[in-house]
Amino acid sequence: MSTQSDTGKKVTVRRLAEMKRAKEKIACLTAYDASFAQILEKSGVDVVLVGDSLGMVIQGEETTLPVSVEDMLYHTQCVARGLNKSLLITDMPFLSFTTVDEAVLNAGLFMKQGGAHMVKLEGGADQAETVAALSRNGIPVCAHLGLQPQYVHKIGGYLVQGREQAAADKMLDDALTLQHAGADMMLLECVPEVLASKITEALDIPVIGIGASADCDGQILVLYDILDISLGLRPKFSKNFMASANSIEEAIQHYVSAVEQGEFPAAEHVFK
Ligand code: KIV
Repeated sequence: MSTQSDTGKKVTVRRLAEMKRAKEKIACLTAYDASFAQILEKSGVDVVLVGDSLGMVIQGEETTLPVSVEDMLYHTQCVARGLNKSLLITDMPFLSFTTVDEAVLNAGLFMKQGGAHMVKLEGGADQAETVAALSRNGIPVCAHLGLQPQYVHKIGGYLVQGREQAAADKMLDDALTLQHAGADMMLLECVPEVLASKITEALDIPVIGIGASADCDGQILVLYDILDISLGLRPKFSKNFMASANSIEEAIQHYVSAVEQGEFPAAEHVFK
């Protein structure tokens, strides 16, 4: 199993598509600063996400909603300085893409001033027009389906999505629509295992899971959860990789290898 650190080559959208075709698992993690970014890259992490989870794990907020474009830009710049090879994704924060023009402007900032290679945005088929505009302007997009934490007040909690047949059918339709609109990657959060597996099979673009399925093309977790330093409870879909490691670097290497070997997620990290 080869990682980007073995080959020394930059991880690109082409490389990720190739990994999906070759059934090589994609290891992804969040990071918010240069030092951790450097360790992640050295440990073989293919994709580094500056997640708006920084609102919770860095800023100590209760939700991701207060995170601003300026916060995301600052942390993207920090992470970019720690990376040479891994692909860098920046989350579009809450209400930073309410119109197509606003989305292009803010995503453009993350790419031009931040050094991001892709942006991630929450939302279903209703975001297809935005995804198409970003894509047309040369901005790769990771669409985020399933549990969308920016909708926490609308949903009424951090709940598994797509359990009812109608919701499951809609999620598959949304995924196909977003791919058709130009999305280069899909992230599925807190989705029943069977549905996540079905969406992964149906899409040509790589599908990354978090609380989804081991069948996804790759996995992502919040760095502070795997290092067991998050505020509050660690979610069911995460795992403390520090428990059996002697250093942060070793914990991250164990995570990468568990993803690559298909050992993570195990049954206890996914939803029926
Ligand atoms: O903000 C974040 O950390 C995320 C997770 C799904 C990885 O979007």
